[in-house]
Amino acid sequence: MDLDFKNSNTTYYTHGFHTYPAKMIPQVAGALINEFGKNSNILFDPYCGTGTSLVEANLKGINAIGTDINPFARLLAKVKTTPIEIQTLELHLQNFYNYLFQFRFGFKNFNIEELPSFPRIDYWFSRNVKEKLTIIKHYIDQIENIDIADFFRVAFSQTIRECSWTRNNEFKLYKMSPEQIKSFKPDTFGVFEGILGKNYEGLKKYMNEKDNDSKSIICNFDAVKLVPNRIIKDENIDIIITSPPYGDSATTVAYGQFSALSNQWLGYMENGRKLDQELMGGRKVKNFFNFKSEILNDEIKRIAENDKKRALEVVSFYKDYRKSINNISLKIKKGGFACYVVSNRTVKNNLLHTDIITKDFFEENGFKHVQTFTRKISSKRMPRRNSSVGIAGKTAPLMNTESIVVMQK
Ligand SMILES: C[S@@+](CC[C@H](N)C(=O)[O-])C[C@H]1O[C@@H](n2cnc3c(N)ncnc32)[C@H](O)[C@@H]1O
Repeated sequence: MDLDFKNSNTTYYTHGFHTYPAKMIPQVAGALINEFGKNSNILFDPYCGTGTSLVEANLKGINAIGTDINPFARLLAKVKTTPIEIQTLELHLQNFYNYLFQFRFGFKNFNIEELPSFPRIDYWFSRNVKEKLTIIKHYIDQIENIDIADFFRVAFSQTIRECSWTRNNEFKLYKMSPEQIKSFKPDTFGVFEGILGKNYEGLKKYMNEKDNDSKSIICNFDAVKLVPNRIIKDENIDIIITSPPYGDSATTVAYGQFSALSNQWLGYMENGRKLDQELMGGRKVKNFFNFKSEILNDEIKRIAENDKKRALEVVSFYKDYRKSINNISLKIKKGGFACYVVSNRTVKNNLLHTDIITKDFFEENGFKHVQTFTRKISSKRMPRRNSSVGIAGKTAPLMNTESIVVMQK
């Protein structure tokens, strides 16, 4: 299987609704389903993020379950997989354009008392953008149809990103320079309308293509914990297609930080950045642990020789990762597949072979290794370099390829 998909369009249908760090390439999910999940009834993605594999499963008539502890990611996954009656949506869009018209041309004025407040809001937004976002949010909060309100919320969130003073090509929250801020005059209403229109087209195409009744269910669940039988019965899942985090949020991808402003504006979290401590590897252990994976033990030992604290951070992440694989293994049917898209990263100049470690963890649970594919990363929002060498200003290459580890129960 060639899984590079170089220069492919990765934003077709609903896939382009919103940016998110380290999104899976939809073509990868699609190809894995074709190869290992053709006759599946249920696909599960325990780290579903924006729901890439759920969308691909539903397009192929397969029901899907996704879990993620980031509320903002769950919103994206829900909206990307939920069909909406197009005529009703069009009515809401028309109503909204009429509503905006009144503010645009001064028939209605903004009520200053309505401005939201959350920590550091004025650090990220100009007064003008804050007012316009509040006007949009006010409309969204009055939409009674929850699926349509959520559809608007996704466009609202992307507008938040594009109109704030964050440097948009970063996956962490960095502010623009004072010069950039001076010349940055976003047309907030125009940006929102543009995204809304683009997403409306994407949803229509998705619904035309998805000619079946399959559904996705998205739940708030910590993948490190055991999924209760009331959500997923043991031995019930045909295929897992997932991309777990590459490491703890502090040193790899900070999903919480990326989502913080959206989580705050949408009222999902008071302090959006706190989420990073709850993601996998965020809970730090104090003692070393002897894994059944030889390669992992060796790698931790080598890191500990230079930096014990860093080595313990690595232990924290892989302890959580192992636990989640133990729990998830129970849910897969005999003969079912687990396809994990992972990346090997360097910590203190030591390469951590997450692909082999993933294989080792599944083998502990009686799975057979089917194959590990390697693909070049070309278009994902990922950290390509990090400061893992531990010297200020000096960076090491992080992730340019990823592996797809396929295991069978
Ligand atoms: C690589 S991203 C998944 C991206 C997804 N495949 C997509 O295409 O959008 C990893 C996801 O794992 C989630 N995550 C991290 N720790 C988690 C945990 N303990 N339980 C559930 N989800 C978690 C993060 O919030 C993030 O959305």
